[in-house]
Amino acid sequence: MITDNHGRKINYLRLAVTDRCNLRCFYCMPEEGIDWLNRAELLSYEEILRLCTLLVDMGIDKIRITGGEPFVRRDMMQLLEALSAIDGLNEISLTTNGVLTAPYIPELKRLGIKSINLSLDTLDAGRFFSITRRDEFAAVMHTLDELLKYGFEVKINAVVMDGRNTQDILPLVALTKDLPVSVRFIEEMPFNGDSHVYTGLAWDHLRILDHITQSYPGIQKIKDAPYSTSYNYHIPGHIGNVGIIAAYSRTFCGTCNRIRLTPQGEMKTCLYEGEGLDVRALLRSNASNDELRQQLATAISHRAKDGWEAEAARKTGDPVHESMALIGG
Ligand code: GTP
Ligand code: 5AD
Ligand code: SF4
Repeated sequence: MITDNHGRKINYLRLAVTDRCNLRCFYCMPEEGIDWLNRAELLSYEEILRLCTLLVDMGIDKIRITGGEPFVRRDMMQLLEALSAIDGLNEISLTTNGVLTAPYIPELKRLGIKSINLSLDTLDAGRFFSITRRDEFAAVMHTLDELLKYGFEVKINAVVMDGRNTQDILPLVALTKDLPVSVRFIEEMPFNGDSHVYTGLAWDHLRILDHITQSYPGIQKIKDAPYSTSYNYHIPGHIGNVGIIAAYSRTFCGTCNRIRLTPQGEMKTCLYEGEGLDVRALLRSNASNDELRQQLATAISHRAKDGWEAEAARKTGDPVHESMALIGG
């Protein structure tokens, strides 16, 4: 078992397999994309597997694959197949934008994956285009249908953006009436790789809840799963649930059980950490498993208490961070 310097148990790895993406959500990256990593900069599958095997041995039992968009990386399914064979790894899940996902769904099911988080900020094709700058709404909705058809637990992630998609909050909530999905509204964070866009948080978790409550006064708080990022709610008569993730307010740091591995092989112990441990350099300098294990444990035992503390340690004074696609969310 891994425990950090604040007594928090770490059992969850967020593994970003690529920085590349086939959408251009403006809260994540600029229209022209970012300065993509080249192949040699990315961790290879062999490196990822070695590291994951070691981390599972140390106490990680859940891995969430993120990106960029995971399915943009070639041979993604081979990686999933290999990861699913690691002894002691109880859960693999994915966060995807759903554009390329549908054909892989039967295979994901076969591998024993149970839960998929789907990014979907609007139910309107025109607004989808204006947010993602790509015309892929129909493909994403098809993925949603298929995921439900195959019985996946589906969480829809919607980043709430003032003046962009707040009119989508209620239609997204309405989805939970007849669909067994959890629709989660996320506070927008300044991880857009573009210092000109983030203008502060207009819609925090309280305002989002208040807005929903005005139309659904009967909405009830339900018990959150341990280590949940979201506060969860149920509307009587609905099949699904509603969640709110205070990602910018960071009200959940006290129980944070996660570490991150970026596509370029940096281990971050907090989303807001400036520079993490350069695991790739260790791997490529032929470090032994014992050395790796020791360095990983040392980094985890110097973990910031929360995102605000990690932000202060960053010392740049710049409120805007690199693209979320370089960290994995
Ligand atoms: P599960 O708990 O595994 O279902 O997933 P999740 O909600 O953590 O993951 P997901 O990839 O769906 O991310 C949802 C949102 O939460 C994204 O906007 C993430 O960037 C954000 N998020 C995830 N972990 C953290 C964290 O440690 N801190 C902050 N501030 N935001 C986070
Ligand atoms: N703020 C909040 N959430 C974000 N995501 C990407 N960029 C941001 C941001 N700036 C979300 C995506 C995806 C998850 C991994 O992170 O919508 O669902
Ligand atoms: Fe791609 Fe996800 Fe970033 Fe959107 S949020 S551009 S889907 S990586």
